[in-house]
Formats: sequence, C-alpha cells, structure tokens
Amino acid sequence: MSKDFYAAVKDRRSIYGISKEAVVSDERIQEVIEHAVKHTPSSFNSQSARVVLLLGEQHDKLWDITKETLRKIVPADQFAPTEEKMNAFKSGYGTVLFFEDETVIEQLQQSFPSYKENFPIWSHHSSGMHQFVVWTALEIEGFGATLQHYNPLIDDQVKQEWNIPAEWKLIAQMPFGKPTVQPGEKEFKPLEDRIKVFK
Ligand SMILES: Cc1cc2nc3c(=O)[nH]c(=O)nc-3n(C[C@H](O)[C@H](O)[C@H](O)COP(=O)(O)O)c2cc1C
Repeated sequence: MSKDFYAAVKDRRSIYGISKEAVVSDERIQEVIEHAVKHTPSSFNSQSARVVLLLGEQHDKLWDITKETLRKIVPADQFAPTEEKMNAFKSGYGTVLFFEDETVIEQLQQSFPSYKENFPIWSHHSSGMHQFVVWTALEIEGFGATLQHYNPLIDDQVKQEWNIPAEWKLIAQMPFGKPTVQPGEKEFKPLEDRIKVFK
C-alpha cells in the first residue's frame, strides 16, 4: 500500500477524465475488489453485496448499452452532452458494478421480523461502504473513478448481457481508469456546523 488510510480517504475524488492505460494488472484489480468484498461489513454479517468487474471490451459494452438506453429517452437535440459523458466513461479501463442480493435481505426479514423495515436500508448502507472501500482502494492503486447511477434504466440489459441472477439488484456503477484530469477544487462546509463533541 503506497498511501496511509487517511491520505487515501482525502485523495479519493470523483475523477471524470479517465483513460484505458493500465495502472496495475487486472489480477491486482481483482485482488483489491476481493479484499473489499471480503472485509467490508454488512448488517448481521449477511454479506449481501455482489460485485461484477467489467474490463476491456466488457467495460466498453456497458457504456454502449447505457448510451443506447439513454438515446431512447433523451431528446435527440439534447443528446450530445449525454453521449459525450457516456464516451468519457467508456474511455476508462473498467467498471465495477455493485449489486445487493435481495434473497439475502428477504431471508433476514423472515428470520428477524422486528427489523423487517431496516434490512433494505442497512443493505444500502453496506453497499455504500463497499462502494467507498473500492473507490478508495482504486485511488490507492493509482486509478481515478466516479460513482454513477444509471440503474434501473439499464438493469434488464445488464442482467441479460452478463447473465446476472434475477435477485441481484443493481445499486451503482463505478467506471475507473488512469486519471487524465485533476479533480476540481472542493468546497467544505465548516466542520463545527457538522460535528458536535461532548466531553
Ligand atoms: C451516494 C452517492 C451518490 C452519488 N451519485 C453520483 C452520480 O450518480 N453521478 C456522479 O457523477 N456522481 C455521483 N456521486 C459523486 C458526488 O457528486 C461526489 O462524491 C461529491 O460531489 C464529492 O466530490 P468528490 O467525490 O470529488 O469528493 C455520488 C456520491 C455519493 C456518495
């Protein structure tokens, strides 16, 4: 690991300019994703997170699917910026797809009815944690990434294309690649308005 945790948390940013240049091996990318999926927590240790890693042509295909899906709903005269955005994601090296397995959540609801309402919420919390760990790990490896949400528009085609189990619910897409731009300045609200300490 080339960065400590605090530096990685600070340096993880949304990087929209990404290229196909390899920063680390595909095996290393798989390894950091396995590490994230294995060690990121979930409510009741239910391990409901599911991840699909798309590399090379498979990554390209996802952004072609997304572009063509959007083309059907965005007015033609307004499509140019959308197309540009999809092409920018496609210019990256890979995409991580985050899912949650709904059967795991339903089983928890049956086993612990008093928490029924909470399990879908906690499932999203855990997915967010997975997204954050992967995003930060990709930063450590030298990639830039963003978090995207073209679900549920693309759900059916994604499931069909990669033979994804019906019960896996698509939550987010994370295109990544070698950064070609620096992230912009980020504004921060005063921490004293956001954190209270009592001692
Ligand atoms: C839950 C969540 C959802 C987000 N959804 C999107 C999204 O759909 N598209 C996008 O471009 N960025 C999305 N973002 C990125 C945020 O806009 C970004 O993280 C925020 O502006 C802070 O910038 P930074 O990532 O550079 O620190 C999302 C971030 C979070 C945490």
